[in-house]
Order: sequence, then structure tokens, then C-alpha cells
Amino acid sequence: MGAARTVLKTKVGIVGGGPAGLMLSHLLAGAGIESIVVEKRDYETIRTTHRAGILEHGSVKMLTDGGVSNRVLTDGHRHEGIDLRFGGISHRIDFQDLVGESVWLYPQNEVFVDLAAARARDGGDVRWAVSGTEVLDLTTDTPKIRFTDAEGAGFEIHCDILVGADGSQGVCRRAIPAEQRRENFIEYPFAWFGILTEAPPSAPELVYANSDRGFALISQRNDTIQRMYFQADPTENPDDWTEEQIWEELQLRVDGPDGFELKRGPIFEKTLLKFRSYVCEPLRYGGLFLAGDAGHTVPPTGAKGLNLALADVQVLFEAIESFHATSEKDLLDGYSDQALARVWRAQNFSYWMTSMLHTRADAGPFERKRALGELTGVVASRHGSAYLAEGYTGWPS
Ligand code: DHB
Repeated sequence: MGAARTVLKTKVGIVGGGPAGLMLSHLLAGAGIESIVVEKRDYETIRTTHRAGILEHGSVKMLTDGGVSNRVLTDGHRHEGIDLRFGGISHRIDFQDLVGESVWLYPQNEVFVDLAAARARDGGDVRWAVSGTEVLDLTTDTPKIRFTDAEGAGFEIHCDILVGADGSQGVCRRAIPAEQRRENFIEYPFAWFGILTEAPPSAPELVYANSDRGFALISQRNDTIQRMYFQADPTENPDDWTEEQIWEELQLRVDGPDGFELKRGPIFEKTLLKFRSYVCEPLRYGGLFLAGDAGHTVPPTGAKGLNLALADVQVLFEAIESFHATSEKDLLDGYSDQALARVWRAQNFSYWMTSMLHTRADAGPFERKRALGELTGVVASRHGSAYLAEGYTGWPS
């Protein structure tokens, strides 16, 4: 190992400077609890990584009432419903009418920018571009994070509580001994081919379309940039597709008697998103607590990933705050069960939206007609529509 490491002491050591880690650090600072965040990527890499774009009302409240930023209200777009489209016909799910709630279209990159700016503004300690991160002494009173900073200096953080918010590829989940965690995991025979295009919006709200050729999602970013996805085989290579082929496929999936036509423009990003559902149980090992993608992954349909991460952080923050104030561990002990209750609810919602809207390559006529029967059941019933609206806009905690 060689060179000595500088020891840093803090209350909460946080591995991961994405939205979950930064939001937790922000909330802790507001309660007078110090933390240090270490993140292996640099700021610019995270800022330019495209993720989902829908925030539940509870996530918006955390940003605004929590004093991060009001930019979601000024630069984001409030959506009071979505269109479910099948058999070439659109059916509006009116969130306001059904459950009195809305969602906001506000890309995850912007959430990250707001949180990083708030940490910088409030004097938060965030170390970007660190390497060699390790977590150790997890079952002691002083769990530790070792890392090398961007300048090559070695550090060891000694903390009371260690939070793993380092995503699905991070080190924290893997630091829990295999016999101490259960891994719940499924893969899906689908992927999403995602594009960003310079074009005006094709519809006022998001369109979730089911067709014989598979699913398509017509989403947005702003007045001039749009985000769209279509169901593809997980082995597809986006580079094999020309712009013309992409537009043709997207259009075929939304074609219908109403003549709905996508507004086309140059495509400047193409990505393939693989689908998986994963939950690590419990979300805790000794003094290590997992939050967000470090503990669970959902398929993208319904955009629950970021929202779920922020919901974890809210629960974890309250538990840490209580421990800090009283030295009582009850809420910390309850964190995993409380967070997992919402995680499994969201796993089911994401699984349900995915299976209802996608078309399996091996689907025969029975399966296709059954799927249309399910979609009809949702749009034709106020209760069915309200179930979707409640899950999509976010359940109360
Ligand atoms: C987006 C992604 C989603 O998974 C979704 O359900 C809705 C919107 C998006 O990236 O815009």
C-alpha cells in the first residue's frame, strides 16, 4: 500500500455522488449532520449521462421544499396525464381528475446539476473522480471508506454510518458477504432503443404505445429536444440502424386511424437500455445502508428508478437524524423493511407496466388479444385508470 492515508472523520460517509448520495448529503447538512461524498466519475460525465425524465410529485417536493432548487418548477414541465395508445387509438389517463396529482418532466441530469450546485453553494464536501474506493469495518462502530482522490492522494474516512449510493455497479452492495444478502433478480426479453432528436414535441403529453410490432414511448425533453424509445431485442446494435429506419419503426408503432404523425428531426443520440429487476435484501449490513440503484434496479417503464432512490433517501435521512438526536437505533433498524415495502410496490408497478405494454416476440394471437383486453380493462375502468395514475404519480410514503 505504501504511502500513508490522510484520515478524515465525519458522521456519514456516502459512496456515490449521483442524485441519491447528493440528496442525502443535502438533507443531512440541513439538519446539522456532516457528511462526505465520494464519487468515482467526474462531474461532467454524470451531467451528460442521459437517464429518465419523470419526477413524481414527492420527488419535486424534496427538491423545492427541501431547499435544493425551484428550477424544476421554472424549467420543468408539469404533466397532468399520459396517453395509453393501443390498436392505434390514444386513451388519456387524467392524473389530476383521477388522483389529484401530477408529475414533472425534468431530466435526471438537471436534478443532478441542481443537487451538485446546492452542495457547492452550502459548502458540502463532495470528492469527484476518486479511484480505488473500498469500504471496510462495516460491522464495527466505525465503518470506513478508503479512496484515492483525483490528485492521487490516499484517504480513509472514518464515520458512524456508511451509505452505499453507488449504483448497480458499485462496490458497496458487493461488500456485503454473499451469505448475508439475498439477491432477487429477473431479466426481461426486451430492451429499449432510445434516441434524442432535435425536433418539436409530437404530442402535448407522453405517449405510451403498444402495437403488434412492440412498445414505443414518445417522451420529451423541451421545446426543441425530444426523447423517444422503442422496444428492441437486447442484442440489437443501435449503430446498425439508420435515422430513416428508426423513424419508420417508431412511426409504425404509433400509426392509427387518427393519423398521429411523429415530428422528425436529426437524431443525435442512440442507446440501448437493457431491462432488469433486482432487489438486494436486506438493504443493510452492520453500519452500511444501501440506497437507490445500489440496492435495487427497476425496468425503465414508468420511470421509477430515480424516484425510488429519492424515496429511500427520505426514509434513511429521517432514521439517521433520529439516531443523531437520540442515539436510538430503532429507525435505522427499520430502514430496510420500510424502504423495501415501497421498492417491491414499485417493482410490481414497473413489471406490470412493462409486461402490459410490451409485445413478446413469441406472442401468439391469444396472448396479443389478452394483452389488448388488459389495456382495455385499464382505460375503460375508472378504478383501473386510477390504479395506474396513483402508481405513476407516486404513492404517499
Ligand atoms: C422517460 C423514461 C421513462 O422510462 C418513462 O417511463 C417516461 C419517460 C424519459 O426518459 O423521458
